[in-house]
Amino acid sequence: MSLEQRITDAEGAIAAAKATDAATVEAFRVAMLGRHGVVTNLLDELKQVPPEQKRQWGQRLNQLKNAARERWEELKAATESLPAGSTGPATDVTRPAFSGAPGSLHPISIVRQRITGIFARIGYTVSEGPEVEDDRHNFGALNFPPEHPARDMQDTFFVDGPGEHALRTHTSSVQVRVMESGKPPFRTVSPGRVYRNEAISARAHCMFHQVEGLYVDKGVSFAELKGTLDYFAKSLFGPEVNIRMRPSYFPFTEPSAEVDMSCTICGGKGCTVCKHSGWVEIMGCGMVDPAVLTNCGIDPEVYSGFAFGMGVERIAQLLYRVPDLRLYWENDVRFLEQFSADAFHG
Ligand code: PHE
Repeated sequence: MSLEQRITDAEGAIAAAKATDAATVEAFRVAMLGRHGVVTNLLDELKQVPPEQKRQWGQRLNQLKNAARERWEELKAATESLPAGSTGPATDVTRPAFSGAPGSLHPISIVRQRITGIFARIGYTVSEGPEVEDDRHNFGALNFPPEHPARDMQDTFFVDGPGEHALRTHTSSVQVRVMESGKPPFRTVSPGRVYRNEAISARAHCMFHQVEGLYVDKGVSFAELKGTLDYFAKSLFGPEVNIRMRPSYFPFTEPSAEVDMSCTICGGKGCTVCKHSGWVEIMGCGMVDPAVLTNCGIDPEVYSGFAFGMGVERIAQLLYRVPDLRLYWENDVRFLEQFSADAFHG
C-alpha cells in the first residue's frame, strides 16, 4: 500500500475514533501515537523517502500527528467527566429541558379573541350560554312564534321534538339569557359555536362560530349602532374600510339591516371575492324589537337597544383570504401552523 494511501486511512480512522471512557481514550493514544502506533510508524518511514521528497511528506505527516493529538484531547475532554464504569457521554442535568414545539391558537380562536377584544375596549362584557338550548331562548323569546315561517330560515337540529330542545342556531339565545338576568344597561358580546343543518361544502358547514352583540340602555339609537359597527370594522380591517347598511329582516330586530364592508381584497374596485360589487357582507344587525324586550322583562317604553351578529369563519375568510370553510375544521397541522405568529397580535 502506498504511503499516501496509508496516511489517508489513518486520517479516516482518527476522524471516526470514538471513546466511552478513560481506558478507550488511552487505547486510541497507544494505537495512534504509541511507540508502535500507526502515526509513529508512518513517521519512521520518512527516513526511507528520497531527500527531495522529505519536505513534502514531512509536512503531511506532521499534520497527521497533530490531527491525532487533537482528536485525543477531544476524546479525553468528552469522557473525563464521566463517572467510573459509565458507558455513554456525560449528561448535563442543568441544561434546560426540550419542551417540544410550542403550539398555537386555532385561527378561529384568534379571530374570536380579536373581535371580542375590540368590543371589550368600548365596554362590552363577554357572555356565554349552552349549546343545547330550549325553544324559548333560541326562538320563542326572540319573536319566532310557533309555526312561524322564520324558523325555517335556520335549519335546526332538534335534540328532542320541535318546540323542545335544539342545538342553538345562533348565539342570540345568550342575549335573551343576559336580558333576563337583570336590569339594563347591558353591553355584551356572545361568542360561541352554532349549528345549522346544511350540506357541507366550501361555502357552508353544519357548525360554525358567531359573535353576537347587544346594547340595551335608555335612548340607544340606530346612529350609535352604525358608529359602533364602523369602529369595529376599522379596528379589525384597517382605517381605510367603510361600511354600508342594507334593509333586511330578522324577527327579533326592527328595523333590521345587513352590513357590508368595502372589499379589503380589491379596495372596492371589484374582484371575485366581492363578486365585482366592491362590497362584502359581514353581519346582520338591527334595533332590538320591542316585543323581544317585553319577552325578557324589559320595558320598551323606557329602554331601547341594538343587536348585531357575525360569523367568525366569514370574518376569518376575509382576514386570512382562506376561501374554503372546510379547512377550518380539518385541523391539518400544515394549515394551522401558518397562524401561530398572529396569535399574539391585538
Ligand atoms: N342572529 C342572526 C343570525 O344568526 C344575526 C343577527 C343578530 C341579526 C342580531 C341581527 C341582530 O343570523
